[in-house]
Amino acid sequence: MDFSLTDEQQQAQAVAKDFATREVLPKAAEIDAEHRFPKELVARLGELGFLGVAVPEEWGGAGLDTVAYVLAMEEISRACASTGVIMSVNNSLVCDPILKFGTDAQKRRWLTPLAQGKMLGCFALSEPEAGSDAAAQKTTARLVGDEWVISGTKNWITNGPNANVIVLHTMNDAALGHKGITTFLCPTDVKGLTLGPPDKKLGIRGSQSCQMFFDEVRLPTDALLGEVGGGFKVAMSTLDGGRIGIAAQALGIARACLEDSVAYASVRKTFGTLIANHQMIQWKVADMAAEIDAARLLTLRAAAMKDQGARHGSESAMAKLYASDVANRAAREAVQIFGGYGYMTDYPVERHFRDAKITEIYEGTSEIQRLVIAAGLLKD
Ligand code: CAA
Repeated sequence: MDFSLTDEQQQAQAVAKDFATREVLPKAAEIDAEHRFPKELVARLGELGFLGVAVPEEWGGAGLDTVAYVLAMEEISRACASTGVIMSVNNSLVCDPILKFGTDAQKRRWLTPLAQGKMLGCFALSEPEAGSDAAAQKTTARLVGDEWVISGTKNWITNGPNANVIVLHTMNDAALGHKGITTFLCPTDVKGLTLGPPDKKLGIRGSQSCQMFFDEVRLPTDALLGEVGGGFKVAMSTLDGGRIGIAAQALGIARACLEDSVAYASVRKTFGTLIANHQMIQWKVADMAAEIDAARLLTLRAAAMKDQGARHGSESAMAKLYASDVANRAAREAVQIFGGYGYMTDYPVERHFRDAKITEIYEGTSEIQRLVIAAGLLKD
């Protein structure tokens, strides 16, 4: 098996690492403390091609692949998990479904500016009563004349307060269950749409999310993404890719925990010696390193399968399940290694501890990932 990266993948990784170290990391604590959407960093992501990594150049993207996207996501999330998820949503949950299901006109109008960083997108699936049970959509879409009329509420929409376009999932025929779900591309400046205030969150505080209220929003028929009734497949196949991005974000957080712990253990003394000399500390960093490598291999495998056009739903779920678990364990151990200092906001590990938690929740909880994996094993 060949584990080597192509020149292009190595270059994407190197550019992302340089950007993350020089420009993102110095601002990460302030972005978190101020709950600040890092507009200037998002603009730089666009300039560097990181808002449309796997989008072909003809549609304004970097023309790379999912493996390159994972490598870049890990580097950027290692510096700032908030910046990481802003990037992940635009790439995986917005550009990807438009590339896969969009018409050429939709690609021209939305995909090219999204991939170039001239616009930002969001993905609206979750609702107050439809989180894990994504098929229980209550936002309605009715065809009235030659327009779709949409009403309902969406919850926790990452990038919502900053987005230009929404990949919007609705129910157009409740009697059909998941086959009554239809997806639209909805501009955020449309009449009848109002946004709630940015959500107050435990972590990833620089990445803003909000509720969205649709009150008789009217969209033309060419706003349909895919087929009428095909929205659940759009959502599920999009999440198969999105979960790879969140696994990479979790990897970045876990690596931050490891690197910060190693640096601290090399300067902090207890009982007359550096804590790096205590076996309990050595075991903790060794376990972190081994688990991070395993999570990276799972994530790159899922990415490579996506690039090969293979089915990768189970592999993406495994990568996200394991990487998010690793990130949370690494964050817990990093705070423990830092001891009392780790509990203080002066050091970055308490931020990593707060940021890690969401990776076990969004784009499908760890419990949902297990359902997806089990469905792949048990189907006849
Ligand atoms: N690709 C294509 N089609 C798929 C699919 C996939 N990965 N998974 C399922 N389907 C199809 C099935 O084949 C089936 O089609 P048929 O009826 O034609 O056979 C249909 O979808 C229904 O499948 P299920 O019976 O498995 O569906 P379900 O209702 O039991 O739900 C679930 C399955 C996996 C639990 C799903 O509801 C799910 O993924 N829930 C979690 C939702 C989620 O991840 N939300 C994240 C929100 S976005 C977000 O978090 C963004 C952010 O903030 C960063």
